[in-house]
Amino acid sequence: MEKLLVYGSDTPLSGSITISGSKNSALPILAATLLTEEPCIVRRVPDLTDIHNMIKILSALGAQEDRCSGSVRVEAKNIASEAPYELVRRMRASICVMGPLVARLGEAKVSLPGGCVIGDRPIDLHLKGLEALGAQISMDGGYMHITAPQGLQGCEVDLRGKHGPTVLGTDNLMMAAVLAKGTTIIESAACEPEVEDLANFLNAMGAKITGAGTRRIVIEGVESLHGTDHTVIADRIETGTFMVAGALAGCPDKGITLHQVEKSHLCAVTEKLTEAGHDVQFFQKGNSCVIKPNPHPQGVNIITAPFPGFPTDMQAQMTALFATTPGISVVEDTIFPHRFIHCAEMNRMGADIRVDNGTAVIHGKPSLQAAPVMASDLRASAALVLAALKAKGTSEINRLYHIDRGYEHIDNKLVSLGARISRQQA
Ligand code: EPU
Repeated sequence: MEKLLVYGSDTPLSGSITISGSKNSALPILAATLLTEEPCIVRRVPDLTDIHNMIKILSALGAQEDRCSGSVRVEAKNIASEAPYELVRRMRASICVMGPLVARLGEAKVSLPGGCVIGDRPIDLHLKGLEALGAQISMDGGYMHITAPQGLQGCEVDLRGKHGPTVLGTDNLMMAAVLAKGTTIIESAACEPEVEDLANFLNAMGAKITGAGTRRIVIEGVESLHGTDHTVIADRIETGTFMVAGALAGCPDKGITLHQVEKSHLCAVTEKLTEAGHDVQFFQKGNSCVIKPNPHPQGVNIITAPFPGFPTDMQAQMTALFATTPGISVVEDTIFPHRFIHCAEMNRMGADIRVDNGTAVIHGKPSLQAAPVMASDLRASAALVLAALKAKGTSEINRLYHIDRGYEHIDNKLVSLGARISRQQA
């Protein structure tokens, strides 16, 4: 197991980095390659353990895959319907294979994803969608067995849950419906950019999807899909994380520059950083940006919400920023109200954060002190790295495997901006 040593430094970050392709787009897009027996090429796929895991699942299902510098070629000519528990249990996004398998084979056997440290993560809405398409679902030995021997039938379904729309649930239903007979209408669909990217990929395969990126998606079923070549969108959460790094530890004159970003996906994060007093400027048609810190920032309040609201995947990183922002900031997570384990770890670094009922109240401190801390999930681990950049002394971030699930070479990227970081065996 590896750990990260972060040497908190007064030398501000400067320079530029290039943002990677989106993990949360690439995962369902790779699953969607199961919908055709023809080869698909997916470009700008980040080098992450979650991606390696999805590729292993495709391979275990019988697909041929080939990876070369950010591009993955998948040919799913002859595939099986059972996704092995050992691989599925490692990552919730594995349930994305459910929709494509049942659409193509009329059957899918996928193990139930396990519990998750960021809170309860049910899949009732995924199953509601598949049942509405006419699939039958039974549970057996920890596996869901989904069958549709006569094929799927288009339907109208509302996917709204008690915490709002579901991203992977919308993805799963869209992937199942593309080969269904007739038209499917998804109401209360998730409109995250990753859902739109998946729809663009499916349309490039010959699907007929309109409305992706809005709350109402219409899918006209087609007989079959063909291979295609697609480039994944920029990772807006990686971008946001580095924007926070710039606001927290950037050089006030030069700031840090991020390339290959997508401005329209970053409005909520830009708005909150600007409200806190930091300077965010986009250029090159919104595909690059510079973030310069304000030496006298102020606390702000955040409430997470589905896109285009403030992303839950960015709340931990903002909490790290507010830990040393003067004044009081309040962060409420309405999507995953239990996603605050990072706060206890930041308090070990001298932060003053109180969490109650899905809300963190942060009293900004002038500085933090380095401490050994434990990463609890992907975004929490990024938040701890950010906090450590500002802490006095050397922080030790354990359970680094969480960060490698979702940030491509984060330590190298930070080092290239001037941070002092090293990776060691724990
Ligand atoms: N929900 C239900 N029933 C369901 C599905 C979801 O009640 O059947 C609830 C969830 O418990 C949650 C809310 O609906 O309260 C939204 O969950 P959603 O289904 O949208 O989450 P997800 O699709 O499983 C994706 C991202 C997460 C991100 C969430 C919310 C991927 C691979 N994962 O998860 O990303 O937090 O959307 O935006 O796309 C991350 O990258 O660190 C990460 C956790």
